[in-house]
Amino acid sequence: MSPSNAQWAQAGSSVWMGGAKRPDLCFVAGSGSRLRDADGREYLDFVGGWAVCALGHSPAAVARALGGQASTLLHCSPGYWNPPAIALAQKLSSLSGFGRVFLGCTGAEANECAIKLARKRGAATGAWKIVATLDGFHGRTLATMSATGKPAWQGLFGPKVPGFVHVPPNDIGALEAAMDKDVCAVLFEPVQGEGGVVPFSVEYAAKARELCDKHGALLVFDEVQTGMGRCGSWFAFQDLGVRPDVLTLGKGLGAGYPLSACLTDAKFDLFEPGDQGGTFTYHPLGAAVGLAVIQEMERLDLVARSKSAGLALRAKLEALAPEFGLRDIRGSGLLQAFDLPDPTGQELVAAALREGLLLNSPRPSSIRLMPPLVVTDGDIEEFGQKLKHALIAMAA
Ligand SMILES: Cc1ncc(COP(=O)(O)O)c(C=O)c1O
Repeated sequence: MSPSNAQWAQAGSSVWMGGAKRPDLCFVAGSGSRLRDADGREYLDFVGGWAVCALGHSPAAVARALGGQASTLLHCSPGYWNPPAIALAQKLSSLSGFGRVFLGCTGAEANECAIKLARKRGAATGAWKIVATLDGFHGRTLATMSATGKPAWQGLFGPKVPGFVHVPPNDIGALEAAMDKDVCAVLFEPVQGEGGVVPFSVEYAAKARELCDKHGALLVFDEVQTGMGRCGSWFAFQDLGVRPDVLTLGKGLGAGYPLSACLTDAKFDLFEPGDQGGTFTYHPLGAAVGLAVIQEMERLDLVARSKSAGLALRAKLEALAPEFGLRDIRGSGLLQAFDLPDPTGQELVAAALREGLLLNSPRPSSIRLMPPLVVTDGDIEEFGQKLKHALIAMAA
């Protein structure tokens, strides 16, 4: 007999490094918006692998790309050219309008690339500070943790990488006050994801653009979470009406395979040989997956679907709001959130789990929804029912 959830949990906790709380839940298979655990129970997944599984679970297009590329050219080192990585860079360039593309594996790696690019450019004038935002999230390497504005991380793993200044999101006055000749970049997510789905205003983005131009700093948008159709456009900057100088992508780009990118204009590509790289950068396998993901997104028109499904999801939440006191329903496309009247987010996550629905609570009172972009109308209907049952159970 195959091991149960509890047996896997016991086995895992004796060998995985610490650092994350997990329920006794081990997933063994998935398809579309559904996951199946080791006890044979099915779940409707509105966590989507943390906004990753754009094409749903185990998509055939990704399986085909992996099989085809693995049996053709698995790896050759980024010291040589390879066709899929060139083709993916060309495709991302034509979708985004940025002429230069770095391909890595994780969002943090893409952000490290952006930080290094900004520091390299700043070095010419002695500028080295990067203005980021409170509650912004950029990854878990030392530099990206230093860029991250989570108050709970302030004292961790010191000393931090110096040079990061944090300002409150959407506070134009604070941004203006933070800008000076030492600033080489302004960095934020168009919608703070881990921070609880906090969108930046069009006015703030326009002011950030203006201030970066005035001070000769790079405007860097971390779209690791918001990019690749998640918010109803290929890139969230397109809805803000402001073009950054540097754009980072991850998560949905590989739709479950580790793949990330940092994009910029040719004039800002100041890297010289040796400045930026890594064994698995420009990886043919990841690039083949990225291309297949984009082709499948185009074939299924998933950017438009993200927008329309997002509206249907919002309507469901708005219908439940009066009865359960749900507040501040926000976000766009398939990155949505709402607040509960009390800091009971984790309780609702647990109640939803019992109903067979996966939810995420990034802040004590907030619930974040990031289902696959292939989520169906039937899935959204079922989500509404399961959420309602979970809310009733929690109230009881
Ligand atoms: C906006 C943003 N940037 C960067 C990251 C880090 O990406 P990764 O975990 O792939 O390194 C995340 C991950 O949640 C993210 O949401």
